[in-house]
Amino acid sequence: MEAFIHGLPKAELHLHIEGTLEPELMFDLAKRNGIKLAYPSVEAVRQAYQFSNLQDFLDIYYAGAAVLQTEQDFYDLTWAYLQKAHSQTVRHTEIFFDPQTHTARGIPFSTVINGIHRALQDAHQQMGITSQLILCFLRHLSAEEAMRTLEEALPYNAWIAGVGLDSSEKGHPPSKFVDVFQRARQEGWRIVAHAGEEGPAQYVWEALDLLGVQRIDHGVRSTDDPRLIDRLVREGVALTVCPLSNIKLRVFDRMEHHNLKTMLEQGVRVTINSDDPAYFGGYMDENFTAAQQALGLNKDQLGQISRNAFEASFVSEARRKELM
Ligand code: ADE
Ligand code: ZN
Repeated sequence: MEAFIHGLPKAELHLHIEGTLEPELMFDLAKRNGIKLAYPSVEAVRQAYQFSNLQDFLDIYYAGAAVLQTEQDFYDLTWAYLQKAHSQTVRHTEIFFDPQTHTARGIPFSTVINGIHRALQDAHQQMGITSQLILCFLRHLSAEEAMRTLEEALPYNAWIAGVGLDSSEKGHPPSKFVDVFQRARQEGWRIVAHAGEEGPAQYVWEALDLLGVQRIDHGVRSTDDPRLIDRLVREGVALTVCPLSNIKLRVFDRMEHHNLKTMLEQGVRVTINSDDPAYFGGYMDENFTAAQQALGLNKDQLGQISRNAFEASFVSEARRKELM
C-alpha cells in the first residue's frame, strides 16, 4: 500500500510555503541572517511542536517565519519543498503564501514573491513539476490591511492564480472580508478560503455564498450540517483536507475518528494535502499513508482522492489531461 501511495501521481492543493520550513533550514537561515533563535537546537525546535489548537501552532509558526529575510531565503525554502514534493510523485502543486507575515516585519512584497516565483520556474524546468501561487490574507488582521495587500499584489497579477484566507479562524468569519474578495474576483483571481477547520459549518456557507470560493480549505466541520454536505456534493465543491494537521491541531482526537472517509463515501470531492508539513510530521505520502492506515481506504478510494485533486486544481484542461 505504501508503494502504491508513493507511486500515485498526486496534486497538492493545500500547502503553506511558510509551513515547509524545516528546523534544519530554520537554523541555517538564522545563522546566515544573524538571528538568534529561541531554541538551542533542531531537536529542541521539534520538541516544541506540541499543539493543543490552531492558535498554539500559529504563534510558533509566525515566530519561525522571522528567519526568512532575503529573496534567496524564500527561494531556498520553496526549492526545498518542491524537491520533496517531486520525490513523492507530486506532479502539480498550488502553494499558499502569506505576504502579511513578512511585510509586517519590513520585508518587501517583491522580495517574497520574487524568491518563491524563481524557485517555481526552476522546478518546472528541472523537474517538470507545475505550480500555481495563491496569496492568502491573514484573517486575524483587518479587512483594510487585506485590501492594501491585494493592491500591493496587483503588479504581480500574472504570477498569482488566486487568493485565499487563513490564520485564526474562530471570531474571524469570511463575512469580514466580503469587499476584499469581491475585488479579487473583479481582478480575475480564483478564490479559496480556509473554513470549517476549527470554526463552524456556518463559515463554510459564508465562504461559498459571500466570498464565492471555488474550493474549501479543510471544511471538515461541514459534517455538522447535513444540508451543507448535500450542497457540497450537488455543486461538486472540493475540500482540501489535511489529515495530519487535523490530528496535530486536535480537530480530531485520533486519525481513526477523522471524517474524511465518511465524506468521500457521501460523494464529497475530498482531497488529501499536507498543510504545514514541517510542523505536522509529514508531506503528501505521509498524509495519504496515515489516513489510509487509520481509515482502511482501498486503492480505488486513494485513486479517487488523487483524481479529485487534479480535477479541482486550477490547471488548464490541456495540462490536466497530461497530468492525470
Ligand atoms: N496557516 C497555516 N496553516 C494554517 C491552518 N491550518 N489554518 C489556518 N491558517 C493556517
Ligand atoms: Zn492551511
